[in-house]
Amino acid sequence: MDISIVGSGYVGLVTGACFADVGHNVICVDNDSRKIESLRAGKVPIYEPGLEEVIHRNVSARRLRFTGSIEDGVANSQIVFIAVPTPQQPDGSVDLSFIEKVAREIAGVLTDYRVIVDKSTVPVKTGEKVAESIKRYNRHGASFDVVSNPEFLREGCAVTDLMNPDRIVIGAQGERAIDLMKKVYEPFMAPILVTDINSAELIKHAANSFLALKISYINAVASICEASGADVEKVADGIGMDRRIGRNFLNAGIGYGGSCFPKDIAAFITISEQLGVPFNLLKEVQRINAGQRERFLKAIRDTLWVLREKRIAVWGLAFKPDTDDIRCSVAIDLISDMLREGAHVTAYDPKGMERAREVSAIADAKLVGSALEAVEGAEALVIATEWDEFANVDLGLVKERMATPIVFDGRNLFDPGTMANVGFHYHSIGRKAVAPR
Ligand code: UGA
Repeated sequence: MDISIVGSGYVGLVTGACFADVGHNVICVDNDSRKIESLRAGKVPIYEPGLEEVIHRNVSARRLRFTGSIEDGVANSQIVFIAVPTPQQPDGSVDLSFIEKVAREIAGVLTDYRVIVDKSTVPVKTGEKVAESIKRYNRHGASFDVVSNPEFLREGCAVTDLMNPDRIVIGAQGERAIDLMKKVYEPFMAPILVTDINSAELIKHAANSFLALKISYINAVASICEASGADVEKVADGIGMDRRIGRNFLNAGIGYGGSCFPKDIAAFITISEQLGVPFNLLKEVQRINAGQRERFLKAIRDTLWVLREKRIAVWGLAFKPDTDDIRCSVAIDLISDMLREGAHVTAYDPKGMERAREVSAIADAKLVGSALEAVEGAEALVIATEWDEFANVDLGLVKERMATPIVFDGRNLFDPGTMANVGFHYHSIGRKAVAPR
C-alpha cells in the first residue's frame, strides 16, 4: 500500500519505518526541514533500539523516503496518517493546533479519495473536528474518510511493540476506509478491533490512564509495605500471578513520567470534566504519583539530614531505560529538587546526557561520562532510571569509589540482601531499608 505519515517524531518515524519494513511504500512528512535533511542523510534524530537499522534497510529498498511537502505525501499515497505532537496546555487540556493545521493542509491538496488517519493521542471527539475541518477546506470537493487509529507503542521498545502489537484499534465509519486500514495491518497478524471513532479515541486515553492507575496503585501499596515491614516486590508478584490482574506495570518506584502518561491523564481528566462526568479517580492517581517523588526525597533527607553541600550521584536522566527521552522525567525533577536544596549533583545516563544538557533546571548538575565516574567521592547514590548498565555494574567498585556507601534506589533495581552484603546502606521503594552486613 502507499502510505504517508505527517509528523516524523517518535510515533510517526517508528510507524513509518515499520510499515515500510512489512512491505508498504511509505513517505514520512515533516515541516522541520533540518530533520528531513538529516533523515535523508541517514541520521536518525532519536535513540530507539533497532530503529536506525529498520530505517536504513527500507530507505535502501526504496520503500521509505522523507519529504517536507504534505502535497507530495498526499498525492502519492492512499492513506495519510497524522502523527504530530499534541502537547499539554497549562490547564491540562491538549493543544490540538498542530492537528488542526495538518488537517487544513491535507484538505487544501486533496484531489482524490483518501483515508485520513489520526494516530496522535487526542481527546475523544477530535476525529469529528478533523472531519469538519477537512470538509471546510476541501477546495476540490474530494471524498475522504477520517479514521482514528491510536498507537500503543512504548518508547525504548517501540519497534518491537509496533511489529508485535497486542491489538490494532480502527475507529471508522465507512466500509471503504475499514477495508483499506485492514490491508495496512494485514502483515502484522494482530487482532483487529473495529469501533466507532469516539470509542477508538477513548480506548487510547483509557488504556494509558489504566496503566498509570496500576502504577499508582502499587506505589500506594508500597507505602503501606514500608509502614508495615512488608515487601512490595513480593506483594506485586503475589497479586500479579492472578491472571485477571497480571504482573506488568506493577513495578513500584518514584513514579511514572515521560511524554505520555502525565499528559494523557491530565487530558482525560479535563475532557471528562468538559463532558460533565469528572473522573476524580485519576486525580488520585496523579496525587499518588507526585507523592512518590516527595516521599523519596524525604527518605533521602531523613538519612542525610541536610542536603546542602552533600555530594550526590544520580544514575539515570531518561524517563525510562532504553531511550534518550527526558521529557517529564522524574529523574530530572529529582535532580532539580536536590540542587535547589544545595546538593552537589553528579549525574550519568547511558543515552540521555545530550538532551539533559539543554535543561536549565539542572544546569548546575555535573554530567559525567560513566556510572563509576558519577559515584566518585559521593556521599549518596540515587538510582532514578533502571538501565541494565546499572544493574550490571561492579558493586564492589561502586562502594570503593563512594565517600559514604549509601544508596537510594528509586526503581528497586537491586536486591536488598546483595546490597547489604556488599556493604551498602540501602533504601528502596516499598521494602525494608538494610544496613551493611
Ligand atoms: C506509554 C504506554 O505504555 C504505551 O502503550 C503508549 O503507546 C505510550 O505511553 C503513548 O501514549 O505513546 P511510554 O510512556 O513510552 O508508553 O512508556 P511506559 O513503558 O509505559 O512507561 C511510562 C512510565 O511509567 C515510565 O516513567 C516508567 O518508569 C513508569 N513505570 C512503568 C513504572 O513506574 N512502573 C511500571 O511498572 C511501569
